[in-house]
Formats: sequence, structure tokens, C-alpha cells
Amino acid sequence: MKGIVLAGGTGSRLFPLTKITNKHLLPIYDRPMIYYPIQTLVDAGIRDILIVTGGRNSGDFLRLLANGKQFGLEHINYTYQEGEGGIADALALAKHFADGQKTCVILGDNIIEGSIRKAVAQFTGQAEGAHILLKEVQDAERFGVAEVAGGKIVGIEEKPQRPKSNYAVTGIYMYDPTVFDKIQTLVPSNRGELEITDVNNAYIGEGTMSFSFLDGWWTDAGTFDSLLRAANLVAQMTAKKQISAELAAVEGAVL
Ligand code: G1P
Repeated sequence: MKGIVLAGGTGSRLFPLTKITNKHLLPIYDRPMIYYPIQTLVDAGIRDILIVTGGRNSGDFLRLLANGKQFGLEHINYTYQEGEGGIADALALAKHFADGQKTCVILGDNIIEGSIRKAVAQFTGQAEGAHILLKEVQDAERFGVAEVAGGKIVGIEEKPQRPKSNYAVTGIYMYDPTVFDKIQTLVPSNRGELEITDVNNAYIGEGTMSFSFLDGWWTDAGTFDSLLRAANLVAQMTAKKQISAELAAVEGAVL
């Protein structure tokens, strides 16, 4: 499976932090934001990765990531999104890269504690369609929200005022190659963007959408509050890992 990190957009909700740089280059604790989604893909065994970015700071991604040595990669692919057409518009640019294969798409501001390895393995064995990862949240109205009935997703609403469930659709999506035909049929939403929720609803309509729940915490980082929350969650996770490593070293020395 190929991996795609979507890292375009204006980051308008983080203005003025994003006046002079791209949102995905802002720090989350000790690393630039984009490191986390790349690491999520790499940890799931995905090594062929495309970064879709845009705007005036696109060159900075190349300087920061180069060929991906810091992730154990030998090469990273890059492409450029002109304008602000939304997530599905950015994904459309990956058609050439996907080259008829399945893709795992992750939004550049989505940070997770756990792993998507199991979901990636499951989707590798799925004959066709798509797979999304859900997470139960308290503020579902901020996200795409999935309505689940009889063990199936029956629909997704983008940022509903009255969410039908607490199941947020995280920014991690797996698609078969028909995703690019589905994007072709989309029309811009009220916010003038091609919505990823419309792509997902097309798969739901076809009856080929599967889903699973994400383990561990999940956050986006596109608002001041979620940016701070992401940094705090990563800082706590890093401290926990350090303590575990120190304990393991002490136990090793005692044995
Ligand atoms: C996007 C998607 C939304 C999803 C969210 C996850 O929202 O449109 O469905 O739940 O990412 O981070 P945006 O960040 O564009 O507001």
C-alpha cells in the first residue's frame, strides 16, 4: 500500500502563526507537525510516501524532509497543490503516484498515540472499497461524524450542528484506486472545497466502506486549542516512554 500525507491548506484557523509558514511545519513538542503522520505511515510498514503541499512554503518541506533518512526511508515523493481546493482536491493530485494501487491517506495535522498497522493489514486483504478509522470524542461537531447502525456506517455528516453519534472520522483513510473516479464526480461544498466526507459517502453508498476504532489518543492540530493539546499529549507520551525505557534498563542491570 502507498502512503499519502496531505499537508496543504492555508491554516487560516491558526493565523497569525501560519502567516509566514505552513501549518504542518509548526512545532508539536520536539518535532515539526508533519513528522508525526509520516512516522504513523512508516510504523505501519508503508515506505512509498507522497507529500502533497502547496503555498509559498512548499520548498521548506523538501529542505526539512529531504529523502526521509530520519524515518529510515531512501526517498520521499512530493507534489504541489495549486489553490485551496480542499482535502479531496489535494488527494486528486496523487492519482499518478498511486498508479492503480491502494493508498493510505493521512492528514498532515493528525497525530495518534497508537498504531494503524492492524487496520492497514486488514485493508490489504479487503477486495475493494475503503476503510476509515473512528474515534469516540466529546466534541464531535468539530469533525466528520459517522452514523453507525447494525455494525455498518450508514452515513457521515461534515461538522453537523447536532451530531448523530460521538464517532469522529479521523483523518486517516484507506482507499482502492476508484477513489480518483469518485473525486471527479464531486462538487464544491459551502466552504468552496471538495470534501473528503463526500468521497467517503460515495463508498458508503456503494456498500464498500469498512471501519475500525483507533486505539489510544488521537488529535488534530489545526486550532490553537488542539495545537496546544497535541503538544501536551506528545510531551506526556515522550515522558512515559522515557520512564519505561529507564525502568527496563534498571531491570536489565539487576537481572
Ligand atoms: C477534516 C475533515 C473531517 C475530519 C477531520 C479530521 O476536517 O473534513 O471530516 O473529521 O479533518 O481531522 P478539517 O480539518 O478540514 O476541518
